[in-house]
Amino acid sequence: MIRVSVDKLEKNGMIGVQEGGNNVLLVKVDSNYFALGDICPHKKCKLHTGTLKGNQVICPCHGATFDVTTGILQAWFKSFPPFLIKLIAKIGIMNVKTYKCAVSGDEILIET
Ligand code: FES
Repeated sequence: MIRVSVDKLEKNGMIGVQEGGNNVLLVKVDSNYFALGDICPHKKCKLHTGTLKGNQVICPCHGATFDVTTGILQAWFKSFPPFLIKLIAKIGIMNVKTYKCAVSGDEILIET
């Protein structure tokens, strides 16, 4: 279990949390928190250094875009047609793990 103070995250912000060998991306979209793997499956770039747009995080290295609510790949290289993105997402090799998280008092609890 990872505990993070709610003060660490701004609305529509994200941080990387490293603890006990886990690298977790913690995201706040509006008033909702989401936790997912912080390491991009492609070349291991840290997603928390990328860009958050709505409920999507964009990898800073090659643009893989993940839905923070599911960890599922949404887009990648512009040359990849939508059917290929859907196929890659279905296979699962470019999806990131999600973690359950909940607010308790002034902390966000992430189940790892
Ligand atoms: S390392 Fe993330 S898309 Fe390449």
